[in-house]
Amino acid sequence: MAIKISPSILGADFSKLAEEIKRTEQAGADSIHFDIMDNHFVPNLTFGPMLLKSLRPYSGLPFSVHLMVENTDEYLEECAKNGASSITVHSESCVHLHRTLSEIKRLGLKAGVAVNPASSLAFIPYVADLIDEILIMTVNPGFSGQKIIARAINKIGEASKIIRKENPAVEINVDGGINASNARQIIDQGADSIVMASAFYGSNNPKELVEYIKSLR
Ligand code: DX5
Ligand code: ZN
Repeated sequence: MAIKISPSILGADFSKLAEEIKRTEQAGADSIHFDIMDNHFVPNLTFGPMLLKSLRPYSGLPFSVHLMVENTDEYLEECAKNGASSITVHSESCVHLHRTLSEIKRLGLKAGVAVNPASSLAFIPYVADLIDEILIMTVNPGFSGQKIIARAINKIGEASKIIRKENPAVEINVDGGINASNARQIIDQGADSIVMASAFYGSNNPKELVEYIKSLR
């Protein structure tokens, strides 16, 4: 399966987001990644689910929500109502992870679980039947433009092994510090999909970047 690319609008120009997401689509992206941060779970504040509603008319691409918040359950319904296609929640912030994932599925969306660089993958077998995606964080969440954490890259391969055994339909997505120079390493470890903010929006030819990364597998 070809590698999928999901640019995170956190790296886009916020003075013209509608244009930015059109540009994202034209570059050949497969979905758009929305980093929702609450300044509690992570040390940064971005935007809430209302942004999905404002931007939904400007793109036909799936909107993937990455929730980096403390009270995850309070955001699910609004994300669904505002046009999200998938919601990825953090394993570290969900006390009742199984319940939260069941709720996302009940809302009719794809469900994912994100894992911080220092967090364990041990929960995967217990929710493998409920999820569509695992999001391996290769930076500590909170900001775009950070340097990739080398040790976290091996975790992609570890997750891939567990997923193959438990539910091969689950996609492995990777987020944080990915660019043209390290993409091959990420893909070789077994990534199905990658998120990019600074490398994509900082590129003067994002279409070429997408084509290059897609050519790696
Ligand atoms: C980090 C976010 C990422 C971030 C990626 O907390 O979850 O999605 O926007 O940014 P880059 O690609 O610049 O590391
Ligand atoms: Zn993200």
